[in-house]
Amino acid sequence: MCGIVGYIGKKEKKSILLDGLKELEYRGYDSAGIAIIEKDGLKHFKAVGKLKNLRDKTKNYSSSGFGVAIGHTRWATHGKPTELNAHPHLGEYSFVVHNGIIENYQEIKDELEKMGVTFLSQTDTETIVHLFEKNNSDFKNPFNSFKQTVSKLNGAYAILLITEAEPESIFFAKSGSPLLIGFNEEDEIYFASSDTPIIGKATEVYYLEDGEYGYAKKGEVKLFDSSGIEKKILKKPLPTDKKMAQKDGFRFFMEKEIYEQSQVMNDCMIGRVLDDRVEFEELDKSLFENINSIKICACGTSYHSALTGAYLFERLAKIPTQVEIASEFRYKEPLLQRDTLFITISQSGETADTLEALKMANRAGLKTLTICNVDNSSIVRESGSAILTRAGIEKGVASTKAFATQTMVLWLLSLYIAELKGNISKDRLNRELNAVRKVPKVLIVTDRLHDKIHRLSKRYLHGHGFFFIGRDIFFPLALEGALKLKEISYLHAEGYPAGEMKHGPIALADSELFTIALMPKSLHYDKIKSNVEELSARDATILAISPEEFELADDFIRTKYSSHAMLEFFEMMVITQLLALEVSIRLGNDVDMPRNLAKSVTVE
Ligand code: AGP
Repeated sequence: MCGIVGYIGKKEKKSILLDGLKELEYRGYDSAGIAIIEKDGLKHFKAVGKLKNLRDKTKNYSSSGFGVAIGHTRWATHGKPTELNAHPHLGEYSFVVHNGIIENYQEIKDELEKMGVTFLSQTDTETIVHLFEKNNSDFKNPFNSFKQTVSKLNGAYAILLITEAEPESIFFAKSGSPLLIGFNEEDEIYFASSDTPIIGKATEVYYLEDGEYGYAKKGEVKLFDSSGIEKKILKKPLPTDKKMAQKDGFRFFMEKEIYEQSQVMNDCMIGRVLDDRVEFEELDKSLFENINSIKICACGTSYHSALTGAYLFERLAKIPTQVEIASEFRYKEPLLQRDTLFITISQSGETADTLEALKMANRAGLKTLTICNVDNSSIVRESGSAILTRAGIEKGVASTKAFATQTMVLWLLSLYIAELKGNISKDRLNRELNAVRKVPKVLIVTDRLHDKIHRLSKRYLHGHGFFFIGRDIFFPLALEGALKLKEISYLHAEGYPAGEMKHGPIALADSELFTIALMPKSLHYDKIKSNVEELSARDATILAISPEEFELADDFIRTKYSSHAMLEFFEMMVITQLLALEVSIRLGNDVDMPRNLAKSVTVE
C-alpha cells in the first residue's frame, strides 16, 4: 500500500512530486504529503484525503534551483488518516517517507521515548526518522546513521529519507516493499514505488532487491547489498508508453477497463493460441516434469480466478488442484510436497501475503510459477517462472481486465498441461481452442447491453443484501460478482454455490433479498434452475442472467446461447462488472477509488 516518489535535480519539485503521486494515488488516498530541501531550507506540506487537497494547499508554493524532494500517498495501517499521521514524518531536521510496516516499531519507540524523544504521530514510520537523528547525534555521519537505522528495522519497508545534515542526498532502503530508481541523461534521479510516475521522465530504471540500501546525490547513486558490499547498478530501459494510463473519455478507469477487455484478451492470446495447440514461450517444459498436483495461492479477485482455474486444471488437464487464500496459507503450517507445482496469481505482483506464500514454497524447494500483470514486480522476480497476463496498467481499484486475463491464462495453461501430459484428445483440444478464439468477441460491450444494465440498476440500490449464485465455474464467478459489487457500492453482497443456499442462507430470503442468478445453458442448467425456483418460492427478488427465458425472474438479462461454458462465463462476467459499475455510479460513489481500499496491498 501507499505510494512513494522522490526526486533530485533542478526542475520544479512540487509538480514532479504531485504528478508522480497522482499516478500512485490508487495505492492509497487517506492522506498525502511532500518534503523538499532546496537552497531556502526545508519545506513540507501535508493534507488529509485525496491528492487534490494537497494540490490546493500547495498552490502558492513552487521550488527553485537544485534540491531533493520526497512525497507519499498513504493507505493507513497505524493510526487514523489524520495530518499528523500523514507522511513525510519529521524529526528535528530530517524527513522520511515509508511504504510497508515496521514490525518492531513499538520496541524502538519505547527506547527512544525513554531517551526523551517526543512522538507526534501514531505511526510506525515516525520511529525511523527519530532513530536516524539519534544515531546521527552519536555518529555525526548521516549515511552511517541511516545504515545503522535500517539495520534495526524488522518488517517490510521502502524508505526515502532526506536531512538537512546532508541536504543534497536522498537515503534509500528496501526490504519487502517495492522501490525503484530512475535515471536520465540530464543527471536527474527519480525514486518511486512503481514505474508509472517516472515514465516519460526517466529513461532507465533499477529495481531494488530486498536488503539493498544506499544514497543518491547529484549524478551519483551508491548502492549496497544487505551485507554492506557495494553493488553495481544494472539499469534497464524504462518503457515510454503511458497512453494506457489515461481515461480515453470514459467516466471512470474501471469503465474503460471493462471496455478494454476484448482488446487485452487478444493481447493475452497472441503467440499463445496456435492453430492446433497452446504455446507459452516463457515456460520451460521441464517445469511440469515430476509434477503430480498443483496448488494455487492468491488473494481477492486473483483468488477467484484461481478457483476457476482449479475446475479447468482438474477437468481438462486431469491434474489434482487445490486453491488457498494466501493469508490463510501463510500461517497454517502447510504440508508442501516437491511433486506439487506452486502457482501464485496476482494482478499487481506486490501483494504481501501472496509474495510471502511464494517465498515459503521456494524455501520448501517447490517449483514455482506466477501469473501476473506487472513485469519486474516483486512476485515475478521471486517466482521460478512467470506468465504475464498482458492486461496493461489496471488503475481501477476494482479489478476487471486483470481477472479476465488471469482466467484466460489459466484456461490456456490447463490445455497446455493437458497436451503435455497426453490427457486430452486432439478433438477436445480443437473444440477448446475454437472456443478460446471466440472470447475477445464475447467481451465486446454493446450499447444495448450497457443501456439495459444502466436502466435496471436503479432497482438495486437498496435491500438488505445480494446473493450472487452459480454452480461449477459460475460459483467463483458469483464470488467475483459479489466482490465487485460490495467493493464499489458498499452494499452487502455474497457469492454462493447455488446448491448450498438451502443449507442456511435461504433463511434470509424475502423480497428485499436480491438474487443475481448465473444460469448458463451449457452447464447444469436444470440444477441451478431448481435452486433459483426455491428462492423464488420464498419471495426473493431474482435477476436472472441466462440465454433461456426464466419465467420466475423479476428481472432478466438475456445472454447468447453458447456451446462452451467458458464463453458463457466471460459474457456473464462483463454483465456483473457493468452491474456493479452502474449501481456504484447511481449511488454517487468514487468508482475508481472506493473507500477503505487500495490497489496494491503490500501489507499483510
Ligand atoms: C479486486 O477487485 C480487489 N481490489 C482485490 O481483491 C485484489 O484482487 C487483491 O487485493 C489481490 O491483488 P493482486 O491481484 O494484486 O494480488
